[in-house]
Amino acid sequence: MAQFDLDAFLRTQQARVESLLLERADRLSASGAPPRLVESMRYSLLAGGKRLRPVLCLTFADTVAQASLVSALAADAACSLEFVHTYSLVHDDLPAMDDDDFRRGRPTNHKVYGEAMAILAGDSLLTDAFGLLADGPEPVRGALCRELAVASGAAGMVGGQVLDTAEDRPANLDYLVRMHRLKTGALIRAACRMGVLAGGGDAEALVRAQMYGDAVGLAFQIADDVLDVTSTQEQLGKPVGADADAGRFTFPAVVGLEESRRLADAQVRLAVEAVRPLEGEDGPLAALARYVVERKF
Ligand code: IPE
Ligand code: IPE
Ligand code: MG
Ligand code: MG
Ligand code: MG
Repeated sequence: MAQFDLDAFLRTQQARVESLLLERADRLSASGAPPRLVESMRYSLLAGGKRLRPVLCLTFADTVAQASLVSALAADAACSLEFVHTYSLVHDDLPAMDDDDFRRGRPTNHKVYGEAMAILAGDSLLTDAFGLLADGPEPVRGALCRELAVASGAAGMVGGQVLDTAEDRPANLDYLVRMHRLKTGALIRAACRMGVLAGGGDAEALVRAQMYGDAVGLAFQIADDVLDVTSTQEQLGKPVGADADAGRFTFPAVVGLEESRRLADAQVRLAVEAVRPLEGEDGPLAALARYVVERKF
């Protein structure tokens, strides 16, 4: 059987996401918002990035709808995820958090626009994400807002960031898994579930998206920790060794590199199993799950 062409698929899907994001960024520019704020938001939003969360969302929507028609619903869901993700990166890089100078291959937002504007650009990206998602006639938009809110709020991503920066965090595996599931896993899981909801999938598809998202979300942050040790700033577009410098507890720090890779691979196998009934053998979702741990940046 011919191997699924992930490179071509990713390029197409990423281009699709870029154009959807650009449309929404242009709407922001025309909204009457202060130009410097919009410039700062666009600087981080349109700086590239893998676009994994929106790609997962669109791929689940296409898979359950069995067609590649971007409904306004799936498009808004995909973009709202990237708005929230980008805000989280802008704030994550601030001096009070990880204090990083590079992101997506360029100086971090606060290095260019100052801390106050970086905080405010993040605030707006977060708020406008929900504006996007709520703006349309389809009743399911309420459920999509709830998914995004739960995944990104206190019991999701923000909660995870708190566990990551807690002074009294224990260096044990249970804590690490819990932290990773919240700070990164929750939004990735929501991306998968939101794709199913936007594509009109059934309860079975939603459960499978959840299983897949849980596994891919954990594997993704383990891979991020591994890359922080094994990669270069040129490849990643952000500093390496940053976790150790900040005294962070990461998978390689707590269980070692080899065990980290083994644990991530085990999550990928779970994810691939979970989506086989939805897409059959060798589909895009299985390829995306493998990509999460095989990626070089
Ligand atoms: C980086 O996310 C932050 C984490 C949650 C690990 P990505 O690796 O998805 O960053 P971009 O979007 O490709 O820049
Ligand atoms: C970031 O984790 C997670 C969020 C932004 C929610 P990291 O701090 O490890 O992300 P990078 O490595 O700076 O991208
Ligand atoms: Mg961080
Ligand atoms: Mg960071
Ligand atoms: Mg990291």
